[in-house]
Amino acid sequence: MQFTVQPSGGMVDAESRAASLADPGFGRVFTDHMVSARWNASAGWHDARLMPYGPLVIDPASAVLHYSQSVFEGLKAYRQPDGGVALFRPESNAGRMIDSCRRLALPELPVEDFVAACDLLVRTDAAWVPDGEAASLYLRPLMIADEVGLMVRPSDSVRFLLIASPAGSYFTGPLRPISLWLTQEYVRAAVGGTGAAKCGGNYAASLVAQREAMDHGCDQVVFVDAVEHRWVDELAGSNIVFVLDDGTLVTPELTGAILPGVTRDTVLTLARDAGHRVEERRVDVDEWREGARSGRIAEVFACGTAAVITPVGPLKWPGGEVTAGDGAPGPTTLALRQQVIDLQYGRTPDTHGWLRRVVRPPA
Ligand code: COI
Repeated sequence: MQFTVQPSGGMVDAESRAASLADPGFGRVFTDHMVSARWNASAGWHDARLMPYGPLVIDPASAVLHYSQSVFEGLKAYRQPDGGVALFRPESNAGRMIDSCRRLALPELPVEDFVAACDLLVRTDAAWVPDGEAASLYLRPLMIADEVGLMVRPSDSVRFLLIASPAGSYFTGPLRPISLWLTQEYVRAAVGGTGAAKCGGNYAASLVAQREAMDHGCDQVVFVDAVEHRWVDELAGSNIVFVLDDGTLVTPELTGAILPGVTRDTVLTLARDAGHRVEERRVDVDEWREGARSGRIAEVFACGTAAVITPVGPLKWPGGEVTAGDGAPGPTTLALRQQVIDLQYGRTPDTHGWLRRVVRPPA
């Protein structure tokens, strides 16, 4: 894909940008540019451009607005110790987007085009990559079906977009254990459905349960499987990992209803490297409750691109609650978190070749 470059005339001034970077929050502010490309069955991918960030003009009869034919991704660019910038595992996100596109009957964007779009946006808006380890530049690629018409069928016209947002922690404030609400009424996804695809519909399906969690004073909702309502799947916006008292890591296996998280894979790989036993298997919610009470489950954490590695405190359900360990962030959680962060910010050797350097250090 060849990108036409159309620079933004009205870029945010350095002072306002610095104010945004000082406390970016998550997904609140966006950089000066975005990438756009179009696809149709006859021309394939075309009209790829880097352009000023701004609203879209979209026909109200576009397929995505009615039938939600869309997918998205999330990945981050990190400021490196020498002042340059690197993306973390962009090829993994590109590959997962292809898998999501297959499930949503969308055209595949080749890995090299996905990565080239990320490179171009990060290079152009490099001034928006925060300094310091509390923040990074979150990239949000998305693909939407924009064929106009109300027939329920795969769209003949599609648009790829890529936007970027300086981001701090997904959960507000300094690192703290989050509280979880166990919903056994609502399910997020079923095997054979779209749970393993990163599509907006999965997140839409999570919202009523997420509201229920917040109404009970919890940060996030935990979903269990759609058939027996007892096997732990994931949280609304991240995967989940249990640390046993002998250092074993246990995480729900990828059943087809669970998002194959890039951070999940990163953590499991680093844990194996560090000599932890890792089990990907079904986890009964009663194993969680009993394990937390008996001490067999010593720590629990959430992991995702936005969540990074976030310790989990109490698990609550109607009429009960349990906390693994003493409720403070556990040593294995904190050690793995530090390893992931050190790798992403280029402070430890990149033995897996996960960092893609996109901006060189200043001369
Ligand atoms: C991510 O971690 O990148 C996600 O997409 C999760 C959520 C913020 C939607």
